[in-house]
Amino acid sequence: PRDVGILALEVYFPAQYVEQSELERFDGVEAGKYTRGLGQQQMGFCAAHEDINSLCLTVVQRLVERGKLSWDSIGRLEVGTETVIDKSKAVKTVLMELFRESGNTDVEGIDTTNACYGGTASLFNAASWVESSAWDGRYAVVVCGDIAVYATGNARPTGGAGAIAMLVGPNAPLVLERGLRGTHMEHAYDFYKPDLSSEYPVVDGPLSIQCYLRALDRCYAVYRRKAESQWHQAGMKRPFTLDDFKFIIFHTPFCKLVQKSVGRLLLNDFLAAPNPDTTAGLYKGLQPFRDLKLEDTYTSKEVEKAFQTASQEIFNQKTKPSLLLSSRNGNMYTPSMYGCLASLLAQCSARDLAGSRIGAFSYGSGLAASMFSLRVSQDSSPGSPLDKLLSSLADLPARLDARKRVAPQDFADIMKQREETHHLANHTPHGSQEDLFPGTWYLERVDDKYRRQYARK
Ligand code: ACO
Repeated sequence: PRDVGILALEVYFPAQYVEQSELERFDGVEAGKYTRGLGQQQMGFCAAHEDINSLCLTVVQRLVERGKLSWDSIGRLEVGTETVIDKSKAVKTVLMELFRESGNTDVEGIDTTNACYGGTASLFNAASWVESSAWDGRYAVVVCGDIAVYATGNARPTGGAGAIAMLVGPNAPLVLERGLRGTHMEHAYDFYKPDLSSEYPVVDGPLSIQCYLRALDRCYAVYRRKAESQWHQAGMKRPFTLDDFKFIIFHTPFCKLVQKSVGRLLLNDFLAAPNPDTTAGLYKGLQPFRDLKLEDTYTSKEVEKAFQTASQEIFNQKTKPSLLLSSRNGNMYTPSMYGCLASLLAQCSARDLAGSRIGAFSYGSGLAASMFSLRVSQDSSPGSPLDKLLSSLADLPARLDARKRVAPQDFADIMKQREETHHLANHTPHGSQEDLFPGTWYLERVDDKYRRQYARK
């Protein structure tokens, strides 16, 4: 099969949110800390009767219904998530309920977990399946979903929630570029969830940011080397730079970190360039940083500021349009980067996107990270696969506007309620139909054997 990649993409986010400026006042921090300091505008959060299964049920059903697909046409379905409600039973098995009437049980794939990286691992698996001898000609579906919640304190405003489903197959309008992947994995305790009775992670914020930036450096170095070696084999010798990505999307814990990451990539280009001109153009005035070593700069505010300033225009053009969902719904964990992809597709014109290369950096604490790229098809004519994909996402801003704003105190109450009830058996969650968009699955009841029963609004 040729041009294996993403054919369709469906987004689910909760129907309610808090305003970050109101949260600043409520938390008693300085005005501007969450909005300007972290770059976050609003934060979506789940109703008390939503869980990871209901999120994923909703997004998969939406993908199949809106795409007018048959349940028989799916031969693989896998889920990337770090939201655990059962130590053994995969979310994927619950999603098989959607296939019941069709009789299709021949569906490979299962859940994959490592912090925010599971969706990317699932996407790589799905694409490998389509390219392999095991492929039976049907579609693969990749689902990523999470409920990202933190204990009260400085990490709480970096939460979010949502799910994304992607249809994967050949002749895709977004093709995974072959051979162009840079991965970095290592053992770190930057963010982890050792307390199985809590929805909250243990997090070392500053360490997690350093780990993220180090993984970015390493992944970019490997990605670049592989791109340059492909070019070399084709008889072309030149360095790969940020210019070779028309757009770049990132896993987005908070938007400010992504803006810093673009600066970080420029620093990588600058240090790798054999003879950069520091008297004019992009690198003007950066001569004092010429002899730096990447590994010595993770905590340097001076380096961060210089390269953030130098890369401002690159950020505006290549990355800013991708931050719509991240700034208004927050960090969804596994779907975060795919939400950036959806935002980019919703915010840019078909003409801008056609034929472009989108660089993608996926990070999951602990840690696992990859940089890869998607090539957008040239054909954006009406009715083309790219045109259909873009039209399906065009209403994203309007859907965000349609959410309900909730006061920080009510948000805090719902969080407290989740803490007390999310692990209970023999429990009927308190949640109102008004807190859900039409077509949303929700948790109706947990029986005395912890079996969960769902219904659809
Ligand atoms: N106006 C404008 N900016 C302000 C203001 C203000 N009044 N007050 C503070 N700021 C700025 C700070 O200067 C800082 O910006 P800078 O780093 O560019 O200088 C920013 O706001 C944040 O302030 P800090 O004091 O650094 O924030 P704090 O340490 O309280 O928390 C953190 C931030 C660490 C990100 C925390 O929210 C957290 O732990 N989040 C979860 C972990 C995380 O997201 N890690 C990222 C990768 S791993 C993952 O995806 C989970």
